[in-house]
Amino acid sequence: MPTWLVIIFAILGAALVLKILYALAIVAVHPVTQGAMYTSTGRVKIRTALDALPMLPGELLVDIGCGDGRILRAARQRYGVRCLGFEVNPIAFAKAALLTAGRDGIDIRFRNFWLADLAQADVVVCYLFPDVMGRLGTKLAAELAEGARVVSFNFPIPGWTARSTLRAPSRLHNDPIYIYRIPASLPGHAEGVRVRV
Ligand SMILES: C[S@@+](CC[C@H](N)C(=O)[O-])C[C@H]1O[C@@H](n2cnc3c(N)ncnc32)[C@H](O)[C@@H]1O
Repeated sequence: MPTWLVIIFAILGAALVLKILYALAIVAVHPVTQGAMYTSTGRVKIRTALDALPMLPGELLVDIGCGDGRILRAARQRYGVRCLGFEVNPIAFAKAALLTAGRDGIDIRFRNFWLADLAQADVVVCYLFPDVMGRLGTKLAAELAEGARVVSFNFPIPGWTARSTLRAPSRLHNDPIYIYRIPASLPGHAEGVRVRV
């Protein structure tokens, strides 16, 4: 068999193996993600969200389900914020860890964010699926301090009123981006319990 044909088969074989691993990883973590599978937000949407959300250096941004970590890297580069990402899909986590290796200020954890306390977050970013958004709203209202901001790509938090709803200037990536700010009046908000350090 000619070498070029061997190379083509090798590339196709590797691509197939990666696809199978990707599908297996999504199925394996489904009980935790409840449908929010690993897929990435378009960079133009990330830019649109960051444009609308000025942050101060040293503030903490948390991506709950950070995928390959692209939002964390973009926010760190743009605003010098501290970034924390949670991810349970092993392929996404490995990619995020690899792409972020050696960068200061970005911490990526192989961990279920439902088990984490998000009280220290100044900004929470998510791109999760509708099945979990109600439960997420309850968690965020209970844990985040007043003034914290929440960015939800594509899906709203039921019962919350967005301060703004953005769309990226792109025909392909123009799903809504919801931006919220925690008011103490939010149902379930434990006002006065937390002090940001
Ligand atoms: C649609 S992707 C978004 C990735 C990234 N935030 C972005 O916008 O590019 C959702 C990610 O959340 C992760 N995820 C879902 N539920 C999770 C959980 N409970 N803990 C940690 N990661 C979770 C999934 O594995 C998936 O990679």
